[in-house]
Amino acid sequence: MKSSTVIAGCMNWGQWGAKFSTQQYLSHIKKNLEASVYTFDHADIYGHYTTEEEFGNALKLDSSLRSKMQIITKCGICMVTPHRPLHQIKSYNTSKTHILSSVEQSLSNFHTDYIDLLLIHRPDPLMDPYEIAEAFMVLKQSGKVKHVGGSNFTTSQFEMLHHLFPLEVNQIELSIIHTKPFYDGVTDQCMQKKVIPQAWSPIGAGKIHLDAEDERSRRIISMAKILGEKYSASFDQVLIAWLLQHPSGIVPVMGTTKIERMQAAMEANSIEMTHEEWHMLLSASNGFDVP
Ligand SMILES: NC(=O)c1ccc[n+]([C@@H]2O[C@H](COP(=O)([O-])OP(=O)(O)OC[C@H]3O[C@@H](n4cnc5c(N)ncnc54)[C@H](OP(=O)(O)O)[C@@H]3O)[C@@H](O)[C@H]2O)c1
Repeated sequence: MKSSTVIAGCMNWGQWGAKFSTQQYLSHIKKNLEASVYTFDHADIYGHYTTEEEFGNALKLDSSLRSKMQIITKCGICMVTPHRPLHQIKSYNTSKTHILSSVEQSLSNFHTDYIDLLLIHRPDPLMDPYEIAEAFMVLKQSGKVKHVGGSNFTTSQFEMLHHLFPLEVNQIELSIIHTKPFYDGVTDQCMQKKVIPQAWSPIGAGKIHLDAEDERSRRIISMAKILGEKYSASFDQVLIAWLLQHPSGIVPVMGTTKIERMQAAMEANSIEMTHEEWHMLLSASNGFDVP
């Protein structure tokens, strides 16, 4: 699936963040599309199971929008909320029945007849890859889901399912303050299998700004400032460019609810830092140079 250069993460558009009205959803969707951001990331649980529907209500107001965008959604986490009164404890469910019914609910929420990309939100200790593969086959054959992938999968979990049914994406936490996927084999595996790593919390969920007094954050901020001056770029743009530059073809899933930050993130694609500069940021994060 060829997504936009950066993806609009919708986790905070609704009840978990900005609490957009339907008109605000509509306007924000249109502004993202104008900025060439055409991929939108959801999960069934966002906003305690309300954000998909709120987004869908906006799509209902303009039927031309659906064909201009890609919708990603996820399933597998079961949250305790008045919207799901039968759930007694937070748990995972990756059974075929659950996946199929979750997709039906998502299709109805978005007022659409297909999901562009369906991800298993978290690896489930009880997951049965044969059952998931069966669900994926049914969904792809019916045209209800175009592409499938995992999220937060280790390399062995990914391989176990990919071996039975080709996955196209692993959506993982990846940023200057969470570089683990560069060392635990996840980005290596993506390159080997030509799978796209989508990076959630690509600017560390705003933590670097909030913890600006923390020593690590100060090192990152001061190095990003030097590079920002060289490339006439903002702090966020430097961090996004750092991800975009990786050979695995990382696609950042942006959590901002501000259109200016989305536009700026798209522009980060034109920054080409040198290998040394890339390592300067890595060293600023680690607090030491590579061995
Ligand atoms: N697959 C998974 O398990 C998983 C898990 C978590 C998230 N996700 C997806 O990834 C997306 C992004 O996650 P995220 O929200 O953690 O990503 P993020 O892009 O790293 O962080 C976004 C947050 O940082 C704030 N921020 C951005 N620039 C800032 C600045 N200059 N100063 C202060 N705060 C700033 C934003 O506030 P403003 O709105 O004010 O800009 C927003 O609250 C989510 O929307 C969701 O779609 C997936």
